Amino acid sequence: MKIIIQNKIEISPEVLLVPVANRENLEKVLSLLAKKTKISTSLLQADFKAGLKDVHLLYFTENHENKRIFLLGLGEKTSSMDVLNAFRSFIFKRKSNLPATIGISFLHENAPADPSLWVEAAVNGSLLGFYEIGLYKTEEKKATTLNVAGARIEIFVNKKYKQAASAAAAKGKAIAQTQLELFDLVNAPANKKTPQTLADWATRSGKKYGYSVKIFNKKEIESLGLHALLAVNRGSENPPTFIVMEYKPKNGKAVKKVGLVGKGVTFDTGGLSIKPSSNMHLMKSDMGGAAAVMGTMEMAAKLQLPVHLTGIVPSTDNSVDALSVKPGDVIGSYLGKTIEVIDTDAEGRLVLADGLAYAVRQFKPDVLIDLATLTGSCIRTFGTYAGGLFSNNDELTSQLLSAGQATGERLWPLPLWDDYKKEVKSDVADVKNFSGLPAAGAISAAKFLEEFIESHPAWAHLDIAGMAMCDSEFASQKSATAFGVRLLIAYLEGLAKNAQS
Ligand code: BES
Ligand code: MN
Ligand code: ZN
Repeated sequence: MKIIIQNKIEISPEVLLVPVANRENLEKVLSLLAKKTKISTSLLQADFKAGLKDVHLLYFTENHENKRIFLLGLGEKTSSMDVLNAFRSFIFKRKSNLPATIGISFLHENAPADPSLWVEAAVNGSLLGFYEIGLYKTEEKKATTLNVAGARIEIFVNKKYKQAASAAAAKGKAIAQTQLELFDLVNAPANKKTPQTLADWATRSGKKYGYSVKIFNKKEIESLGLHALLAVNRGSENPPTFIVMEYKPKNGKAVKKVGLVGKGVTFDTGGLSIKPSSNMHLMKSDMGGAAAVMGTMEMAAKLQLPVHLTGIVPSTDNSVDALSVKPGDVIGSYLGKTIEVIDTDAEGRLVLADGLAYAVRQFKPDVLIDLATLTGSCIRTFGTYAGGLFSNNDELTSQLLSAGQATGERLWPLPLWDDYKKEVKSDVADVKNFSGLPAAGAISAAKFLEEFIESHPAWAHLDIAGMAMCDSEFASQKSATAFGVRLLIAYLEGLAKNAQS
């Protein structure tokens, strides 16, 4: 798919998409479009109010050719996520009935003066709209005109912003390519996805985009002493992997050393503390944190961000077997702390404990961030509207909150007060992995993780349990979102900007 930036519409393309927000100049914009298509201004204004998700179709003829303009409503307080979603769902629904070239116009002066962020979102959303979830369907895929060779999107912007829009479009496309791969990875079921699959993905990506990837196999994991990861893996027929990725910019200095850790549980049955069967199939997405970390590594390399990044993914499934770790077992960890396993379904915090401790000891990052589909408690708190944010650092908190706001991949803070610390104190070991209480589950999980960061002064834990799989136009069931990649990239870009000023 080629993307071309233009500053004038000489002849209208067969299909032109015009995103329209409900702003003060709405009437003017609609009257211009009414004139162009030779219809009544008042009728158009009555029929189209630019509400979020409204789509309105205008037919007209130009040079004896039949053409279409689609108005995409963006509502009143338009965020870049609204723009992204409007294009994504439009393309998803209409892709079988679009010509090989479509235009998107930002010339109607209804977008922000510099439309770059909207251009990025429109391109990102349009390309995501091509996603087909039916990876294992035997029926041949229908070709859509827009993904044939030679297909292109022409984007029309004011001359002044041509260059900015061009960079924004390239970025939107680059992000979409990574997100589409993550969709397949997260949506893949457990019989098609093992810890080795994640390792292979990382290795391939590292080779392609020029960052280093080291995979530790089970033997090496044993000699490193990642005992908590090994404990979760005991009941599995698939050996664990421990994925260590490192990216440094090719030219210029890195402004900060950032460590990322992602929960890579390829399937979570709960172990012997087994989960009820009703929604267990969704636990194929329990590596959503890992996907966010791997996607961010890839994007940072693609964009050559001026940061030194380490990405760590401890990966295993959590299965039921005679060898499985049992409730009450006391296990070791990379840090040396002993852990009483009260509930084998609280496995994410065990693998993260080793990932976090390894990141701190081996890489000494300035900032440490982990992402995990960690608790049902976090879903009960925020639903699918925000990830939980836990941090011991106010600056990091506010940076992550603004990145979330800007990208629409929202976070909201929850406390790390020491009142909750007693909930992870064990009678027999240093810590226990579950309080046993039906309360404050997301917070006590975060307090458990805090035990393994060796008092790192700038740590954030993102509980993305509700965000990795969501309802969307792609499927009748929940499906992958690639949540976290746009968020972390925005955060890292912010660090780079801060260092400049
Ligand atoms: N992977 C789950 C959390 C989860 C639940 C993610 C639903 C996405 C959707 C995690 O490993 C888990 O099982 N957490 C338990 C912890 C409890 C046993 C202390 C939970 O939240 O119920
Ligand atoms: Mn679990
Ligand atoms: Zn889990």
